[in-house]
Amino acid sequence: MRYDTELCRILAKKQLTKDIFDVTVSAPKLAPIAKPGQFAQILVPGKTLRRPISLCGIGRETFRLVFQVRGAGTKILSELQPGEKMDILAPLGKGFPLEGSATHAVFVGGGIGVPPLLCAAAAFSGERTAVLGFRSKNAAILADDFAACGCQVQIATDDGSLGTHGLVTDILKKQHFDICYACGPMPMLRAVAKLCAQRKIPCWISMEQRMACGIGACLGCAVELRREDDSSYYGHVCKDGPVFPADRVVL
Ligand SMILES: Cc1cc2nc3c(=O)[nH]c(=O)nc-3n(C[C@H](O)[C@H](O)[C@H](O)COP(=O)(O)OP(=O)(O)OC[C@H]3O[C@@H](n4cnc5c(N)ncnc54)[C@H](O)[C@@H]3O)c2cc1C
Ligand code: FES
Repeated sequence: MRYDTELCRILAKKQLTKDIFDVTVSAPKLAPIAKPGQFAQILVPGKTLRRPISLCGIGRETFRLVFQVRGAGTKILSELQPGEKMDILAPLGKGFPLEGSATHAVFVGGGIGVPPLLCAAAAFSGERTAVLGFRSKNAAILADDFAACGCQVQIATDDGSLGTHGLVTDILKKQHFDICYACGPMPMLRAVAKLCAQRKIPCWISMEQRMACGIGACLGCAVELRREDDSSYYGHVCKDGPVFPADRVVL
């Protein structure tokens, strides 16, 4: 795993919803070594532990980070302004495997699980469908960005205020694809993994777990994994993931 730190100047900042922010930072040292699915650990002024945020976009010399305010740390990050700097440790973890023989990928995202999939969809060379799920129209993010990078986009909302009224899996059941990449809440990941297993289609999921170090040193982000012989063991989301083959995780 190759990673480093960089003081990254905020180049642009947008508010996407009432609590989700879209920040582009300059990262000339880190961006060239980053891959879709990897994440950054961001130092929060006044806090000891860094906060893990996925890479939503990787430019030649920039990172795009889309994050939701969940607690004190992300609130402080959301208040930083263009021109100020973020201390970033990246790129961390293993990303999405995007090369191979698959020709039609489906990217299934739920809520704040959507950002890392945009980065992956932009890098996939075959046909692409994005199936995105949100609570309501007001919480929907990045649909135009998926369309702009060539995806056919389908949206599901819990309240029916945008797209299909229902779950992403209601849409997924009707799709034809030969590889799946997913990130979102655990019940969504379970349902997506099950559907792919029934169809014998490879499925890669990006997991979220509370983290401290982000580099495999504190053993704080344990996840139960499955071996070929079906016995289980504990791995770490930050080092062994965050992206795993769905059939190797005890969901
Ligand atoms: C690999 C990975 C990628 C992520 N990518 C994104 C993203 O792209 N956009 C986004 O909005 N959120 C993302 N998250 C979740 C984000 O890290 C948490 O929302 C954030 O750390 C909360 O920090 P806080 O100080 O606001 O909240 P608090 O609850 O005050 O945090 C307290 C402590 O718990 C840790 N913590 C709390 N919730 C989480 C969590 N869900 N995951 C990991 N650590 C947590 C914090 O890092 C901090 O150390 C990701 C998490 C992981 C593990
Ligand atoms: S966060 Fe420390 S081992 Fe994963």
